[in-house]
Amino acid sequence: MTTTDSRVLRAELLSFDADPGDDDTPAPGSVRHHPDGAVWIENGRLRAVDDYATLAPLLPPGIEVVDHRGKLITPGFIDSHVHYVQLEIIASYGRQLLDWLNDYTFPEELRFADPDHAAALSEAFLDELLRVGTTTAQVFCSSHPASVDAFLAASHRRGLCMLAGKVLMDRNAPEGLTDDVVGGIRDSERLIGDWHGKGRLGYSLTPRFAPTSSRAQLDATGALLRNDESLWLQTHLAENTGELDWVAELFPGSRDYLEVYETSGLVGPRSTFAHGIHLDQAMRGRLAECGANLAFCPSSNLFLGSGLFDRQAAREMALNVTYASDVGGGTDLSGLATLKAAYQVGQLRGQPLTAWQGFYGLTLGNARALSLDQRIGRLAPGMDADLVVLDPAATPLLARRTARCRSLAETLFALMMMGDDRCVAETWAGGRLQHRRP
Ligand code: GUN
Ligand code: ZN
Repeated sequence: MTTTDSRVLRAELLSFDADPGDDDTPAPGSVRHHPDGAVWIENGRLRAVDDYATLAPLLPPGIEVVDHRGKLITPGFIDSHVHYVQLEIIASYGRQLLDWLNDYTFPEELRFADPDHAAALSEAFLDELLRVGTTTAQVFCSSHPASVDAFLAASHRRGLCMLAGKVLMDRNAPEGLTDDVVGGIRDSERLIGDWHGKGRLGYSLTPRFAPTSSRAQLDATGALLRNDESLWLQTHLAENTGELDWVAELFPGSRDYLEVYETSGLVGPRSTFAHGIHLDQAMRGRLAECGANLAFCPSSNLFLGSGLFDRQAAREMALNVTYASDVGGGTDLSGLATLKAAYQVGQLRGQPLTAWQGFYGLTLGNARALSLDQRIGRLAPGMDADLVVLDPAATPLLARRTARCRSLAETLFALMMMGDDRCVAETWAGGRLQHRRP
């Protein structure tokens, strides 16, 4: 006999069916909004999503209906680029990228040689993600395979959709963090075999960035990607000017940074390049042609002084832009905080981010760019039940502000400017209640 796990959440609902564009008014047909709506969760999926009044007569007698009126349900947030192994060095003072890596990051990542530490930090990181409403992330582990085992095992136990990979790094890093070409590939293959496609998990090949991999290691990674189109790839690109100079020195045969990755076959539709601040239009066009995405990490870019990401330049080339925290370079895991920083960066560039575009980006936009939109990113029948229950009156000031809002766009914008973990009343993933605000 099979048992049915079934319940209904009643609240205001917001979901996107398409990119709303950058105008103040969203593109026709892009927004799905139910002021008094309901999601029917059954066995980990969304069975129905509609106005409450439409759904109510169809519900079986006795089904649990959780009344979240006054709150707003959106799809769970997605973070396209984050380092779980850097959780405890978030907010480390005063350095730009290359010094920050040497002074804080590499020493911290050495600790993940210990599987017990990796297990403890995996749980802590997932607790923090779920506290801020993030239900899916593409995650850098450390170069130790056990750090990936720990993270993906913890994600699997919670029934989460996560992408992750072992950092590949065979030079220019401390001895305890470097692998070699053969060992790095062998470890990645073992991890792929154990985790890729298991439950809701996927494997993302993870060469850290060009300076810490030999050409041979990048080539071997490209060979893995070519052999299995279902794999993801994550790395960093053109974040910092010192990094650019170093790459030019290390790869004198490449005409630009992106070509280093192209030559090894690393640029494809499932490739995420974090940052991409210092690019020209031709490079953006080359990335777009391959269907790759740039992970815009605004709080990290401000914190590390890396530069102001040019979102409109990417969009002009039809290049996918995803939104990411990049913790520990980023200063906040919250997707709402990421949108706030993205808005601020946009203001400095004369390209303000609408709340429509921001919430689309955190949900369906990120899901599409990561090729996960068959399962997540929308509130729609058949999709996985990953969602967040937001409280627009979470703090006294937010309650004052949103009481004055006259449209959903205004409320969303207030959430995006003022929101944090306090606004997340509940987080659901895989149909399970994963977090409830105390
Ligand atoms: N480039 C190479 N490694 C890293 C990292 O860990 N964080 C950031 N922000 N950039 C990087
Ligand atoms: Zn990063």
